[in-house]
Amino acid sequence: MLSSTQLAIVKDTWARKIQPDLRNTGDVFYLSLFELDPSLKELFKGDITEQSQKFMNMMQTLMDSLDKVDELVPVLENMGIRHVGYGVQDEDYEVFGKALMKVLAQKMGSEFTDDVRDAWQTTYNVLIDKMKKDAERAASLA
Ligand code: HEM
Repeated sequence: MLSSTQLAIVKDTWARKIQPDLRNTGDVFYLSLFELDPSLKELFKGDITEQSQKFMNMMQTLMDSLDKVDELVPVLENMGIRHVGYGVQDEDYEVFGKALMKVLAQKMGSEFTDDVRDAWQTTYNVLIDKMKKDAERAASLA
């Protein structure tokens, strides 16, 4: 669960440190991801610059509604199901999270304290939990 303090930390650091530079953050993110696990490259069939923009726009949507996570559940569930179709495995979410933490650390510099890191890691876990859960359910019904 995300505490109200963590919610405030995530929203504030996103708005000040990431949102003004979405495009570059996305590019650095995918470089980090492929550095951490080059085998993931083959899952991405389309143009990576476009993918980077789609990912960052989705992150913006998620950030905009982070205080109403219930409203995000259907969005996250559907996205999780689509990701199964892209060949994404549950364990890939871990390295994806690592790449995200890496780019956040880089963008936030000395502001990326342990509390800020914990708030972001918890947020990521909440989001991917919803993505993975429904994908599991859909797979079991198939
Ligand atoms: C917070 C977690 C994630 C978010 C917000 C996210 C967001 C997105 C978005 C917005 C798209 C565009 C297409 C669509 O909406 O279905 C997409 C596509 C994709 N994502 Fe994710 N994603 C996440 C996690 C992951 C993970 C863990 C992987 C594993 C490597 C991954 C791999 C892909 C792939 C392979 C595509 C399709 C690319 C293509 O068509 O070339 N994503 N993602």
